[in-house]
Amino acid sequence: MSKKAGKKRRQKDVGACDVTRDRVRAHFLDGQTGPWARKLGAEPSATDSAPSTDAEASASSSSETAASAASRPVGPDYSVPSSIDIVADPVLHAISTRRSISKLGPETPNDADLRELIHAVSSVADHKGLKPWRFIIIRGHDRNRLGEALDEAGNVQRKTGEINEKPLRAELLLALVASPQDNPKVPEWEQHATAAGAGHLLELALWQAGWGVMWRSGNLTNEPAVRRLHRLKESELLMGWLYIGAVPERYRQRLPNSTRPLPDPEQFLDTL
Ligand SMILES: Cc1cc2nc3c(=O)[nH]c(=O)nc-3n(C[C@H](O)[C@H](O)[C@H](O)COP(=O)(O)O)c2cc1C
Repeated sequence: MSKKAGKKRRQKDVGACDVTRDRVRAHFLDGQTGPWARKLGAEPSATDSAPSTDAEASASSSSETAASAASRPVGPDYSVPSSIDIVADPVLHAISTRRSISKLGPETPNDADLRELIHAVSSVADHKGLKPWRFIIIRGHDRNRLGEALDEAGNVQRKTGEINEKPLRAELLLALVASPQDNPKVPEWEQHATAAGAGHLLELALWQAGWGVMWRSGNLTNEPAVRRLHRLKESELLMGWLYIGAVPERYRQRLPNSTRPLPDPEQFLDTL
């Protein structure tokens, strides 16, 4: 892109950014994101009678009959290209508003919910379909065992009764393990990329489902004591833990006014 065109584009983006920010705020306020929305969804909401987006407005104003709606396939229609709108499109909206939550409430998704979300993210791009990743569920006392393993790995001696509280920062931790297979066509780094992709997709899926998540790791993650606790094979790599819990109510209330500006996309793009 020429310098002149780039400048023009950036000026246009600044204006577009303001509009987008306002729309993102309004979107958060309408309660359409997360399990708190599930609760709202059980009751008739303002959005049932007043469409909140252009897309909804055009859908509700169409003369579609109940019979034709019932015969529609379930899920979005990918047979037509959609406009790129990071507020109206729920996928782009979830991606662009995702953020890590470091202080989590005690509620967690149950194992059935986790299975459902992992089912969804198993669509991750995966060369030769080797499925080189897995998650390990860590709840309850297993978090203390992780604290002990981290202490052993870091040579930390504690007074009697003291424990490593780091793994207790959430009620549920999911350890992400990269499990590369021997394959002449798929080098190990590609399989690590797939495993990381599964982690990022799961973070996003949890966020979209209304849960708070923070991916944590550290220098001790692949030390022998920690690897032993997770019963890793020699070839496997521990990629850290997703700390999962509820988004605290106070934080949730602040979300509408704390939209984080996204970085300028120019910095991520170049040509050969
Ligand atoms: C593999 C991986 C490991 C991470 N480990 C840590 C960590 O140990 N401690 C930490 O504060 N953040 C860690 N982060 C970063 C946070 O998860 C988070 O992305 C960061 O705080 C920025 O917040 P955001 O996700 O809202 O942009 C890690 C991220 C990744 C992808």
